[in-house]
Amino acid sequence: MTDHLILGAMFRAVGAYPSGWRFPGAHHDPRDDAAVLRRTALAAEAAKLDYIFFGDWLATGHDLEFRDPYLLARIDPVSAIAHLSGVTERIGLIATANTTYFDLYTLARLTASIDRLSDGRAGLNLVTGAEPRAAGNHGRDAHAPNEHRYDQATEFVDALTRLWDSWEDDAFVLDQGTGTFIDPDRLHRTDAVGEHVRVTGPLNVARPVQGRLPIVHAGTSPRSRQLAAEAADLALIAAPSREAAVQIRAGLREAAASAGRPSGALKVVTPVLPVVAPTRALAQDIFDELLRLVPLDDGSPLSRSAAFPANRSVASLAGTVGTELGAAGLDDAVPASVAAAFNDDGQRLIELVASRTRRRVGGDLPVTYRHLIASNAVPAAAVVGSSSEVADHLESWFTSGAADGFNVLTPYLPAQFDAFTHDVVPELQRRGLFRTEYEGTTLREHLGLPVPANTHTVDELVDARG
Ligand SMILES: Cc1cc2nc3c(=O)[nH]c(=O)nc-3n(C[C@H](O)[C@H](O)[C@H](O)COP(=O)(O)O)c2cc1C
Repeated sequence: MTDHLILGAMFRAVGAYPSGWRFPGAHHDPRDDAAVLRRTALAAEAAKLDYIFFGDWLATGHDLEFRDPYLLARIDPVSAIAHLSGVTERIGLIATANTTYFDLYTLARLTASIDRLSDGRAGLNLVTGAEPRAAGNHGRDAHAPNEHRYDQATEFVDALTRLWDSWEDDAFVLDQGTGTFIDPDRLHRTDAVGEHVRVTGPLNVARPVQGRLPIVHAGTSPRSRQLAAEAADLALIAAPSREAAVQIRAGLREAAASAGRPSGALKVVTPVLPVVAPTRALAQDIFDELLRLVPLDDGSPLSRSAAFPANRSVASLAGTVGTELGAAGLDDAVPASVAAAFNDDGQRLIELVASRTRRRVGGDLPVTYRHLIASNAVPAAAVVGSSSEVADHLESWFTSGAADGFNVLTPYLPAQFDAFTHDVVPELQRRGLFRTEYEGTTLREHLGLPVPANTHTVDELVDARG
């Protein structure tokens, strides 16, 4: 565990909660994302966050409109971090790249370049992708199956590391007197000839400032966990509960140790979506409104659109809670007698709404079918409360070994990000859980990761020892 927790801002311009863009005052036009991108990065840096993080998705379409509107139209992540390298000075900049589709040499060039441009602040989240339409956008017949994608990813990350290592640090002789620019013995070809990845190298960019950019991996399958254990510095893991997260993190650390990595080499961060206000009641009112703004099947032309998700009706809720709901209206209160007949999933849903809003079954502010349906349709790692309550949550996950840190999602920008950075971060600082100043200059230093030796130098040492 690092001495302080890791905090990254997971940037989704039109909000990470699907109805966030509808919240009064929320940024909602993707054509204006650039300004919000800069503002958020500067706010994250002022709060001393470890990094700002950009996910990616290699296709778009109408079907994303209601489920994941933030994926519809967005600035490419590598472009975003290249831009931010000139706008910010200290914060880490992490872009996602898909190993199934990205050209390896191009990605190595881009990322080594951005690491140079940012003085060592770039990081790379490698994913294998879950979007089948990506195939059509990249000249492939079909999205490859999981095993194939992870075989490719394993070769990809190995060759990427060796491409970054093309130039040893003392390869640049730069003797103006003799005219010797480089020592060719210290420039290395890559010569990766795998089943999926082939690249000759060397890379035409000097070795990154960080030697190797911190590698993040996000995924869910057993192969994903294996790749994270072997090759990632940060694993981005979503867990259904703190107890599950403790288990997953312990398993990952054990797998990393089995792969011969030193203890603490792999850190685990988990997504969290804080909804923060000066009091818990006010935060609950915000979440209540976010739920109310999730479009549901009310028979309107919008809800008859082909893209409308199937799980947003009273009938679909009836299936989840295992009870006939007849002709109940979306905004009807759920009567106590009906709620009592719900199955376990239904009871959990009621508890979830009760913990995130001020609504109670049979209360003055009643739980409505709308709130249950929206909660069920939009799973979110939401933590709703005052700044000290949100800090309590983060602290308990950190100190119980559930996570080394958090990728902070923001339901809508900019107000909720400001609430997090202005109120929650200082609370974490007061508790000694988070830095008050950047101590290092690179992303590796922020994360407490040493600079790895150049693989070619290490090989040479091994050779020399015979
Ligand atoms: C919290 C989290 C965030 C992720 N973000 C992305 C992303 O931005 N882009 C992407 O292609 N995959 C992302 N993934 C990973 C995909 O979901 C993953 O590639 C997909 O699940 C296929 O890998 P799997 O078979 O290991 O699950 C993310 C995963 C998690 C857990």
